[in-house]
Amino acid sequence: MKKTLYSLRNYKKELIFGPLFKVIEVIFELLIPFLMKYMIDVGIKSANNGEGLNKIIIPGVIILCFVIVGFCSTLVCQYLASIASQGFGTDLRNRIYQKVCGLSLDDIEKFNKGNLVNLITNDSNRIQLGVALLIRLVIRAPVLVIGSLICSFIINVEIGFIFLAIVPLVSIILGLILYFSGKQYLKVQSKVDKMTGYTNDSLKGSRVIRALNKQDIVIQNYKEYNFEYFKESKTANIIAAFINPLTFLIVNIAIILVIYFCGDFVLNSKLDDGDLVALISYLNQILMALIVVSNLVINFTRALSSMKRVDALLTYGPTIKNNPIVENHKINKGDELICFKDVSFKYLDSENNVIEKINLTINKGEFVGIIGGTGSGKTTLIKLIERFVDVSEGELLYKGYNVKDYDIKTLREDISLVNQKSVLFNGTIKSNLLMGKKDATDEEITKALIDSEAYSFVKEYNDYIDHEVLEGGKNFSGGQKQRLSLARSLLKNSEVLILDDSTSALDYLTDKKVRENILKRKDVTLIIVSQRATSLMNADKIIVVDNGKIDSIGKHEELLNKSKIYKEIYDSQTLAKGE
Ligand SMILES: Nc1ncnc2c1ncn2[C@@H]1O[C@H](COP(=O)(O)OP(=O)(O)O)[C@@H](O)[C@H]1O
Ligand SMILES: [Mg+2]
Repeated sequence: MKKTLYSLRNYKKELIFGPLFKVIEVIFELLIPFLMKYMIDVGIKSANNGEGLNKIIIPGVIILCFVIVGFCSTLVCQYLASIASQGFGTDLRNRIYQKVCGLSLDDIEKFNKGNLVNLITNDSNRIQLGVALLIRLVIRAPVLVIGSLICSFIINVEIGFIFLAIVPLVSIILGLILYFSGKQYLKVQSKVDKMTGYTNDSLKGSRVIRALNKQDIVIQNYKEYNFEYFKESKTANIIAAFINPLTFLIVNIAIILVIYFCGDFVLNSKLDDGDLVALISYLNQILMALIVVSNLVINFTRALSSMKRVDALLTYGPTIKNNPIVENHKINKGDELICFKDVSFKYLDSENNVIEKINLTINKGEFVGIIGGTGSGKTTLIKLIERFVDVSEGELLYKGYNVKDYDIKTLREDISLVNQKSVLFNGTIKSNLLMGKKDATDEEITKALIDSEAYSFVKEYNDYIDHEVLEGGKNFSGGQKQRLSLARSLLKNSEVLILDDSTSALDYLTDKKVRENILKRKDVTLIIVSQRATSLMNADKIIVVDNGKIDSIGKHEELLNKSKIYKEIYDSQTLAKGE
């Protein structure tokens, strides 16, 4: 819990003064029955004796003052509580988001995207509400209960003991409910995560789902997830539903006992009428306090289970750690840039190695092609180089150092990656490109657009690079998106440029032009992953990957002779074209 509540320390003042004002309110509330008792026992008697109404009016005015003071204290307390809880909630969301951004891709999959969204929204809100209630109500109940008990003992010891017996009884019941409902809420939450995850996935894939006409299946699956959620919530609500009736039952039994004994005591003149009124009023206060506590229990179990979830994230040590020994290192053209030494890799949830004992070297300034069937492990090789995942066995060297010792920020500054799936963000073309280099001039942007062959369509817009980009870049075609993503990476002007199947939507000629434009850049190391052999024909080195292993490495002509797989790919593509 420590991590989650960490930033509460910024609200020490509110956390101390909020409850303090609550205590002030409670103390005044506790004094009122004593004044009532005085009005009844002394005031009414003196009025009956013809001594005037002074002994009724004065305590009445004092009661009014107490109420006003109590009201003002409540206002101050609410104000402090809302400042602290809102501030804390805002900070918590920022911290969760920051943590999520630092996770590796594998970590994100492990935590499940639906879960992460819920942590930032639902869970943070629950914890925030918990903090508000903590300041506003938590101190109130015990002070009110203990105060009422003390006052009852002052009025009558025997009756004080009856009151005293109620409190632990109710506490035990509340404790039991807290335990069971807490467990249940964790289950409910995991169902909500599944549902959110599924909603996210199905919304993302909505186009595919419609094209395949599979809405029925998606709706059916959603219904099933929703039903699971319903079942678990029902159990949680049933448990919670016991709280109020049980509390009422116990307190009402106590009232019956009190009236039974008090009746006797009043008849035997052990109690005045005023005492009876005050005692019942204290009992009522205890009742109210316990009911508030029981509702607090519900909210706190939710906040607590949310806190466990948030804590699991905040205390999670990411699998990719940055402990750099080398901040930055310059090498010359032709020097060894990337070297795989017996590298094997396995994803967390895959059974076998996805990459199996790979050995290969890429030198600075080379143009390297990687080719192989889908699922052969090409993207995984790139992920290893970029340290989105770490090798399971063997060693991966970058500029002669173990890549794990190289500062991740510099590594990712050195390497520019264009992914298989182009991602654009809501904004303008310019704002998207500036993510590559935040202080790029318009001239630099234009140069990048020209090199990525995006200039031809961007220049047609009246607002040029200020042209709007809708969410996910949906107002651009696949090929346009790829060229804009490419421009963004070119703007970075990195030493190494990796294109992972990122020109697949471009026609052969545009693809070729892009490659030529990039190769004109001085000393750039270009790694292209492609399904098309024709895109890689001019590469200094082509690596043929098959089923996580290297089939062969060589130039185009060599491979046609020595690699069956390469020849098959090449033939199938060129023959298909010829037909
Ligand atoms: N995040 C992941 N978790 C588990 N398995 C994965 C993950 N990503 C890819 N794989 C598996 O690893 C293998 C290689 O995938 P990938 O490197 O993406 O292939 P390629 O880019 O050559 O198409 C595939 O069998 C794929 O199913
Ligand atoms: Mg791939």
